[in-house]
Amino acid sequence: MVSKIRDGTVIDHITPGFGLDVLKILGITGKAGGAVTAAMNVDSKGLGHKDIVKIQDRELKPAEVNKIALIASKATINIIRNFEVTTKKKVELPSTIRGILKCDNPSCISNSREPVQSQFAVIQREPIRLRCSFCGHIMEREDILKQF
Ligand code: CTP
Ligand code: ZN
Repeated sequence: MVSKIRDGTVIDHITPGFGLDVLKILGITGKAGGAVTAAMNVDSKGLGHKDIVKIQDRELKPAEVNKIALIASKATINIIRNFEVTTKKKVELPSTIRGILKCDNPSCISNSREPVQSQFAVIQREPIRLRCSFCGHIMEREDILKQF
């Protein structure tokens, strides 16, 4: 359905409907940068359906992969070099998220001048639900996407 790429990254097995969020996380607007193809709700062997994002000539940074894990916990990151899949890795969503996100509660200690790194417990994986370890504030998928 979508042609193979020579070099770049294929983000596969994205839960259907979450592909556009992956583009947002990666800052892909379509107005600048290299070629990007996105497929939505295609048939998948294991999952029934899935979204796929293919980005030519770009390999993702670990911080970008960690953000994708927050909203598409079943995604696979394939690095393609000269048409071959050279690395295939599932994203990992740890049970505790440190530092990536800000707590939305303005009076949370993690938002004060204290040098406290944010920390959240993952209480639901998909759709994601996080609980701030300092103030108990709940952060949902839409709250998280606003920060990316
Ligand atoms: N792919 C691509 N360009 C390439 C090679 C692979 O776009 N030159 C894409 C494939 O279309 C697929 C993904 O990268 O979406 C992973 O490729 P591959 O490992 O060959 O596919 P599968 O075996 O189906 O992967 P999995 O077992 O992870 O489902
Ligand atoms: Zn908090």
